[in-house]
Amino acid sequence: MRILGIETSCDETSAAVLSGPCIVLSSVVSSQLEHLEYGGVVPELAARAHLRQLAPIVQIALDEAGLVLDDIEAVAATQGPGLIGALLVGFGFAHAMAWARGLPFAAVNHLEGHLLSPLLTDADFEPPFLGLIVSGGHTELIHSPGWHSYESLGSTLDDAVGEAFDKVAILLGLGYPGGPIIDRVAAAGRADAWAFPRARLGPGSLDFSFSGLKTAVRVAVERRRVDRSLAPGSPLPASDQADLAASFQAAAVGALVARLEQAVTTRPVSRVVVAGGVAANRALRAQARALCDRLGVRLHLPPLHYCGDNAAMIAAAGARRLEAGASWPLSVAPVADFGQLPL
Ligand code: KG4
Ligand code: ZN
Repeated sequence: MRILGIETSCDETSAAVLSGPCIVLSSVVSSQLEHLEYGGVVPELAARAHLRQLAPIVQIALDEAGLVLDDIEAVAATQGPGLIGALLVGFGFAHAMAWARGLPFAAVNHLEGHLLSPLLTDADFEPPFLGLIVSGGHTELIHSPGWHSYESLGSTLDDAVGEAFDKVAILLGLGYPGGPIIDRVAAAGRADAWAFPRARLGPGSLDFSFSGLKTAVRVAVERRRVDRSLAPGSPLPASDQADLAASFQAAAVGALVARLEQAVTTRPVSRVVVAGGVAANRALRAQARALCDRLGVRLHLPPLHYCGDNAAMIAAAGARRLEAGASWPLSVAPVADFGQLPL
């Protein structure tokens, strides 16, 4: 089955063509630059940029796969969660294309896309597995006992971990998007320079919280400015930025890996998936790998280009559902809220 996938849930416009759920024929991701000057994604700008870019990007994906539209046998698109205006553009485009051409259509949960992204690279990937989704919108620990079966074990009670990276980067005056910048700047800093809190939410809890950590960084930044007799809001020296970034990253990654260890050691799983934009973080990758080696479980860690939002993972998850016999009514529509979109 040659399937076209479309992803527009946030600020990446992406299209991909796969042959079945595992063979990627093309994968095109265009990250919107419209939001840089605002220090965060502006929903209306995102929707408009998707509208401008989607048709050309689908054409590039077809060209790179060496195919024409008539070769496409199924279409998949992200149904949610995400920004509703952004979702509407990609979902409406894909749904209309499938309907007009009489093709099977798959409405894909974005989080299932991240969880099943190892399909794109690891030939032996299959449930049962434990998934840690870490992105700008989500921090979720999920157990998957079988295909398309999911049990939520824990999630963030406040900020998503990627959101914490982005906000801390702004606090440190490092710019946006913060995750990759903190990853880079932290490499020059001392992770033990500051002892930031790693929230533990009661014995046995697999939930996360990052707002206290973010506040602790803000207080530390202000204290450092006072120590150095700097005016409020003025930039800190690069060595302070690096130490604060490294100490923040150590606390955030430490909290993720601690919960992952707790989940793996209390459940009978032999596979772990770490996925989502923050899975690109070098400290998280190294610590997740060390943990899984130590516990003797197989770690599925997508390559960097499949960590962030991409349509290849959406096409893979959609193809897998269609192969399993799933279908969606003509009335299917995008959904912004995770709570209203069960996995
Ligand atoms: O999965 P994704 O592309 O979009 C969402 O679904 O949110 O994740 C984007 C998030 C952003 O918060 C970004 O700062 C973060 O992933 N991110 C990183 C790194 N690369 C991207 N966070 C930490 N370290 C990185 N290297
Ligand atoms: Zn995502």
